[in-house]
Amino acid sequence: MTPQQKRLVLPIAILAFGLLALVGTAIFIVSGGGERGHVASVGGPFSLTDQNGARVTEGTYAGKPAMVFFGFTHCPDVCPTTLFDISEVLRRLPENAKIAALFVTVDPERDTPEAMKDYLSSFDSRISGLSGTRAEIDAVLKAYRVYAKKVPTQNGDYTMDHTAIVYLMDKQGRFVNALNLQQPPETTARELQRLM
Ligand code: NI
Repeated sequence: MTPQQKRLVLPIAILAFGLLALVGTAIFIVSGGGERGHVASVGGPFSLTDQNGARVTEGTYAGKPAMVFFGFTHCPDVCPTTLFDISEVLRRLPENAKIAALFVTVDPERDTPEAMKDYLSSFDSRISGLSGTRAEIDAVLKAYRVYAKKVPTQNGDYTMDHTAIVYLMDKQGRFVNALNLQQPPETTARELQRLM
């Protein structure tokens, strides 16, 4: 190497190192490092009982995008409002649309399949009401990162504090986003149709 070539070695080495660091950062961002990786792990396998007493798993709804909501039939406001909103979206989709709507109880002690069936008769008939044993419910709550807690009421009864997100899952069972039911139901229906 000539002295002139030697003077170039260090700047080239620094430039190469800088480029590597940039490429590495870009790959990390594109591959969804950090928050996206966390969100992608919402959902997963489950084993529950629907309002007709049939055993169901994630495979039962495979190939369909799904709206997944967690709540309980004794809920005074948020759950019935959300189920009403979901019903309004379903009404804007064809009767044979490949879509699943799952209402999973956070209160399996009271929400037996019979109680779920009775309660859901007020809403769109395509909504599946899923219940199960305490262990089965705990497993699905954990998979969807749902918070649910019993809160005693003055009359010796109890209510439930719970996550009220409507999870939109694609037909491969992967989390897409939290549904915005404040927007017009037509807009949400179109959002779902794009995933079918
Ligand atoms: Ni509720």
